[in-house]
Amino acid sequence: MDIRIFKNEAEIGKAAGQLFCDAVKENPSCVLGLATGATPVPTYNYITKAYADGKVSFKNVSTFNLDEYCDLPKTHKNSYYTFMHEQLFNSLDIKEENVHFLDGNAEDTEEECARYDAEINNAGGIDVQLLGIGNNAHIGFNEPADEFTVGSFKVKLTDSTINANKIYFDEGAMPHYALTMGIEQIMRAKKIVLIATGEKKAEAIKNMVEGEVTPQVPASILQNHKDVVIFLDEAAASLLNK
Ligand code: F6R
Repeated sequence: MDIRIFKNEAEIGKAAGQLFCDAVKENPSCVLGLATGATPVPTYNYITKAYADGKVSFKNVSTFNLDEYCDLPKTHKNSYYTFMHEQLFNSLDIKEENVHFLDGNAEDTEEECARYDAEINNAGGIDVQLLGIGNNAHIGFNEPADEFTVGSFKVKLTDSTINANKIYFDEGAMPHYALTMGIEQIMRAKKIVLIATGEKKAEAIKNMVEGEVTPQVPASILQNHKDVVIFLDEAAASLLNK
């Protein structure tokens, strides 16, 4: 694992944002896998500024987001569809038909997950996948489990995930289910960039990097990926053996 430690989240945003801009410059029709949450915001800010400064164009880029809540209207203020448009897509020249989400309101979730997986395959797979990490070491919404998951599926969110995210919702309004890409699918990305900041993530990072590879620590599977880069601030890296 290529682990790089930065002073603060702004520096991570710069480094991760530059990596994505470089990937797009090198292959203007590349396929990006994207994450939501607080961690990638500085990265998305860097990318939108690079676009505004005329340094990079997303007009031929396609994106696939990792996950989406179930039973939340697509344009709800807390949907990941809304988050991504507000944080990134509305400020870029990316084409709406090239941005892809799981539909958390699909009646037949199995069919919806199969559709999404096929769409990723038809696009040629993901070139660069951005990941955050949960306090419980989830990636996407792959919670600690008995087995590593394969393709997209419907997941019941754990208490840890609900507690970490309910602050964004009105009292009691956070969905308890989501659709997410599976672990094997995430691992098929040609390159993976995981970013983590803050001491709340330190234990998950230690287990991911130094622990055994186990579905109880979903992110530990990344030890088996041949091109993964981890951007950490000092707090998230604080429990790693030096
Ligand atoms: C979001 C996602 C999650 C988050 C993780 C960290 O699309 O897939 O795995 O990356 O929950 O969230 P933050 O960045 O809010 O701490």
